[in-house]
Amino acid sequence: MRLDSPALLDGLWASRTEAGFSDGREVPYTSSQITGIHEISQEDEMIKVAIMGYGTIGSGVYEVLETNREVLAASVGQELSVKYILDLRDFPGTSVEKKIVHDFSVICQDKEVKIVVETMGGLDPAYPFVKACLEAGKHVATSNKALVAAHGTELLAIARKKKVNFMFEASVGGGIPIIRPLYRCLMGEKIEEITGILNGTTNFILTKMDKEGASFEWALKEAQALGYAERNPEADVEGHDTCRKIAILTAMATGREVNYEEIPTEGITKITDVDFRYADALGMSVKLVGQSRVENGKTYAWVAPLMIGKDHPLYAVSDVYNGIVVKGNMIGTTMYYGSGAGKLPTASAVVADMVEEAKHINSNIPIGWSGEKLSIASGQDLIFRYFVRVSGSCEDRKDLVEAAFGKSRFVQLEGMDEFAFLTGEMKEARFTESMEILKEELTAENERVLQVIRGNR
Ligand code: HSE
Repeated sequence: MRLDSPALLDGLWASRTEAGFSDGREVPYTSSQITGIHEISQEDEMIKVAIMGYGTIGSGVYEVLETNREVLAASVGQELSVKYILDLRDFPGTSVEKKIVHDFSVICQDKEVKIVVETMGGLDPAYPFVKACLEAGKHVATSNKALVAAHGTELLAIARKKKVNFMFEASVGGGIPIIRPLYRCLMGEKIEEITGILNGTTNFILTKMDKEGASFEWALKEAQALGYAERNPEADVEGHDTCRKIAILTAMATGREVNYEEIPTEGITKITDVDFRYADALGMSVKLVGQSRVENGKTYAWVAPLMIGKDHPLYAVSDVYNGIVVKGNMIGTTMYYGSGAGKLPTASAVVADMVEEAKHINSNIPIGWSGEKLSIASGQDLIFRYFVRVSGSCEDRKDLVEAAFGKSRFVQLEGMDEFAFLTGEMKEARFTESMEILKEELTAENERVLQVIRGNR
């Protein structure tokens, strides 16, 4: 039968019961034949799983497992059944009350538990717990980027040795499939560049500043009120979260260990509403971006606010959404977009890892990176355009600016005793030198550099 035959198309679209169509016709293909999913036999045992940390993501994992129970069972061939939930709290009167344990060893020592979800966050006790689970021959799925960035190399090695899997799709981009595309769909590619808006909180703040003229402080408060930003927002607004995520993606793409501490990282705390007024005049916006790029055998990586134009694929990625652009040497540019955070999207990515682990319950899928260290090349070789704001008169200083930086685009906002310019492309090292020259020449009392933001090439 041809794939486009009327019977099959009918079969896909018409309403049907378990045995056949509601009008009595036979089902031409079962859904399992079409999608390759398994038939579930009554005798099949359940796969017992445990969730460590019943906060937003952990409870989301439970909800996804419950809501999509049948879909997941059909996909795996066995049901995924939550045996334990590790948390400090008791959750009395809820459906999970009887599954709650407070002692990690109950999970670790129970041979029936094959897959453990880690959604506690942080390193302690997540790291020793995950390590012990892998050592005990259990698969682990985690959403914890701090854990993956700091201890991924060791945990991946233990998983290989024990023939289990350590998976972390949810650690980057929340619900956006990005880890799996890197090790599956793009495995025939040399990845040349990864550029991403990888933090929903900061993207929400910058969008508020851009679209509503909000100040950073007001937008941060709004993000906190809506539950996006933590009470201590440092990890997000200082770029640390984005740094760990681009480190993980770079390690995935190169197969080598990346020390996230080597990645130059700037956050968004110095970006102001005035910067957005200039960006608007230039037809641009400011996004917090993490990038890694392989060029002439060197790997560069950085995290910083980036002024991007309307033609950039990340320009339209707004609010809490994330977007990731991956360039391969054969495929060219691909882009991944969606909810980069949030309960159910992130939980969905964790559950996808659980399904993959359940399907490879007796084997390790060779993913991730080795212990070979990747050195991050000096940021001074990176090429950007640069947006610079200077107080004082544009007319007086135009020649000086172009003598130092070369041909630039100048912008002035009405009623402001300052101006801005956008340079052409240059190496960071050359920009630093030119800035020294400019600062030396800005001698009048009212003259000083107010802002510098990198711009995309
Ligand atoms: N704080 C992170 C964000 C959560 O805002 O993107 C998801 O990693």
